[in-house]
Amino acid sequence: MKGNSILNKAKYSENTDEWYTTYSTVEEEIAHYTSQFYGKTVLCNCDDPYESAFSKYFLKNFNILKLKKLICTSYKGSRILENTKLRDADNCIVNNQFAYVMIAKENFDNSKGIISDENIKKFLMKKGTVNKLKGDGDFRSDECIEYLKEADIVVTNPPFSKFIDLFSLLVKYEKKYLLIGNQNAITYKEIFPYIKNGKAWIGCKFGDMAFKVPDDTPPRKTRFWIDENGQKWRSLGNAMWLTNLDNQRKHQKLELTAVYEPAKYPKYDDFDAINVSRVKDIPKDYSGIMGVPLTYLKYHNEEQFEIIGEANHGSDNEFDLFKPKIEGKDIFKRILIKAKDYGKDGI
Ligand SMILES: C[S@@+](CC[C@H](N)C(=O)[O-])C[C@H]1O[C@@H](n2cnc3c(N)ncnc32)[C@H](O)[C@@H]1O
Repeated sequence: MKGNSILNKAKYSENTDEWYTTYSTVEEEIAHYTSQFYGKTVLCNCDDPYESAFSKYFLKNFNILKLKKLICTSYKGSRILENTKLRDADNCIVNNQFAYVMIAKENFDNSKGIISDENIKKFLMKKGTVNKLKGDGDFRSDECIEYLKEADIVVTNPPFSKFIDLFSLLVKYEKKYLLIGNQNAITYKEIFPYIKNGKAWIGCKFGDMAFKVPDDTPPRKTRFWIDENGQKWRSLGNAMWLTNLDNQRKHQKLELTAVYEPAKYPKYDDFDAINVSRVKDIPKDYSGIMGVPLTYLKYHNEEQFEIIGEANHGSDNEFDLFKPKIEGKDIFKRILIKAKDYGKDGI
């Protein structure tokens, strides 16, 4: 059916479930949290032990991060499995017909500092390092939840289509996490209340991210390229890290220079708040509610501003307060904030 195939194509081209993170994306973000990993058990629960940048990063930096344990579980049917020579505990070549678990414990490598690629390879090749899971490796399965219970911090780039499921599981088991997601997830009803209440926040990288994609990814005009090794890439302009690990970013004060002028900051038709088009236009001297773009969250410091809610459809969740319109014209979704320490000299 013509209609359906167009729909499926559109769906496929937007399917970010098989986008693979680069080593530098992981390395640059974790650099902001290193001391919070000391003595901790880390779980990467959407990550095969052979190709995932998360597995590689935590294995290489195991001693630097003073980890207690690293657990990586993969999902049956991984799309990036290359010709691996890894063998599991049954001496079978690792392949994508199974899901696996790889566990590295304290002193798995006695070298100091960064562990070499050579040593990592030796460790992975050792019979018994990588073992079959009973099921398909779904992070929601009982055996994967047992690993989750053991973990202190979960770090991964989950399939975006299951982002809410993973987030909800982490909340249920009260885990710390660092997750790559699409910024659209911020306004999901299952997630926004946590951001509003200061229980989850944006990590350090918020914006452009490049990902390796499977060979059968169709080319497109923008945000797609093939590198000199024939590897296909896509990039996302609105990627983010979502976390509940403390970071310096959330304690930095947003420097404000703009001054409130009623003509420059119109109020919404159905709500007593002013519309602010860009983060740099947030006035330093307005004490009421302001609707700011989603990108504001990259600078949010809860000591400086309170998040009152959001203005999206007016019905997405208990904090989605109204549909933003000015003189009948729809405005893109907004985060509603109010200065906390507003005084006579402004914020
Ligand atoms: C966006 S990719 C990212 C892979 C890897 N974390 C990375 O960043 O390179 C998501 C991965 O999750 C796997 N996956 C899909 N559904 C899953 C599930 N229910 N449980 C665990 N993993 C899943 C996919 O096979 C894919 O490898």
